[in-house]
Amino acid sequence: MAKSTLQSIPVSEGQSIELKIDSMAYDNSAIGRYKDFVVMVDRGSPGDYVKASVTMLRPNYARAKITEIEKFDPAYRIDPPCKIFKVCGGCQWQHLSYEKQLEQKDLLLKKFFSKLNLEDGVLKNIIGSDNPWNYRNKVQYPVRTVADTGRLKAGYFEWHSNDLVNIKFCPIQHNVFDQIVETVRELSPKYNILAYDGKKKTGWLRHICVRIGINTNEALLTLVAVNESLSKSQEFAKEVMDKHPELVGVCININTKTTNVIYGDKTKVIKGRSYIFEKINDLKFKISATSFFQVNTAQAVKLLNILENYAGLTGQETILDAYCGVGLISIFLAKNAKKVLGIEEIKQSIDDAVFSMKENNIKNIAFVNGKVENKIEEALSEEKADVVVLDPPRIGCNKKVLEAIAEKNLKKIIYVSCNPTTLARDLEILNLKNYKIKSIQPVDMFPHSYHVECVVLLEN
Ligand SMILES: C[S@@+](CC[C@H](N)C(=O)[O-])C[C@H]1O[C@@H](n2cnc3c(N)ncnc32)[C@H](O)[C@@H]1O
Repeated sequence: MAKSTLQSIPVSEGQSIELKIDSMAYDNSAIGRYKDFVVMVDRGSPGDYVKASVTMLRPNYARAKITEIEKFDPAYRIDPPCKIFKVCGGCQWQHLSYEKQLEQKDLLLKKFFSKLNLEDGVLKNIIGSDNPWNYRNKVQYPVRTVADTGRLKAGYFEWHSNDLVNIKFCPIQHNVFDQIVETVRELSPKYNILAYDGKKKTGWLRHICVRIGINTNEALLTLVAVNESLSKSQEFAKEVMDKHPELVGVCININTKTTNVIYGDKTKVIKGRSYIFEKINDLKFKISATSFFQVNTAQAVKLLNILENYAGLTGQETILDAYCGVGLISIFLAKNAKKVLGIEEIKQSIDDAVFSMKENNIKNIAFVNGKVENKIEEALSEEKADVVVLDPPRIGCNKKVLEAIAEKNLKKIIYVSCNPTTLARDLEILNLKNYKIKSIQPVDMFPHSYHVECVVLLEN
């Protein structure tokens, strides 16, 4: 970004400017320059010539809103198929052709990793999706009650706003979600299902969540609420399940927290079961209502194949799978390893992982419930790990985890990350500790959003 002092800022808030847009930013905006000053234009596209109004000023950049697109490059800017794309905060890049989304993600990654001084060829081009639509296998909608009808509104928030968009059709999700959520909306007055209002402490429902096994067609509806008391819950569940044969269960997750964490610790089944099965190749995975599972199943298979290739297993290796979730990576790699140890903090996910291990008749994995930062030192001193897989949440690895790894001369680390910012930070630390970055393979797990997943191979 341009180095600038307050005196040299060439724009002011509310000013109308004309500029050309060059590239996408790592959010819902695109970057252009006005008199050399960086301007981030909401929902802009490379190749645009726009008139824009400045909405926010910072010492090094401004934000602006398009008031008129004077000219655009049709190779980049397309008509988004979703009619509510402009207001919905669910995805950010639908106005860009898919080919150019991939190009822009490659460019962004080059910027993110520029400090790492990677050798030529280390950072690969992103692997795109064969079908970038209807890919999401999970939806988690916050809700509101519409005062005059008593019906629920459910959808994503507008970008950086508390206004909820009532989503009836979302082209990036599995088709069945629109229909199941609509049924819950329709039934809400009949079963007196009111949205919880955190300020007034009234109402009941916080989120409507649906997930589906893409390869099993098993779906699960979870109502996240402040308590478990839904009157006539059996009737409600029967009505929804009769209408949607994909549903194998309806459950209530109880969340009394005041934070924006979606799920609480307790889940009660109303009807059917509180989990689905998914199949990846010939492996079967149990996924409970609240457990993490990769949101794009088809791309997850590509990611697993890359990981397997990076691991280069001969059957003699011990693998440490840190942040293992429901054991997807552990179970996928176990067939070609001597032993796998999986660590995960969510007890329900560990229970799912143990269940799936037995279901798949695998005997060489030990799953440990706990925080990686508390368990890794012991794990690494008890067992000489040949390969350590790190797949942390967006915040990246805890410093204690990186220090424990840095102390050991591990042969291979495979770092899977959905956040290039924290990935670049952690890679820099590992790089300084004698781990060499051999290969970075981005995978587009999240088409039409700015998010990007990377699989990184580091060797000692
Ligand atoms: C990105 S997911 C990866 C899960 C799994 N590797 C997979 O591919 O399905 C991150 C996982 O780390 C878990 N997690 C988050 N922080 C953790 C911590 N400090 N210690 C252990 N597990 C953690 C989350 O519950 C989640 O299951």
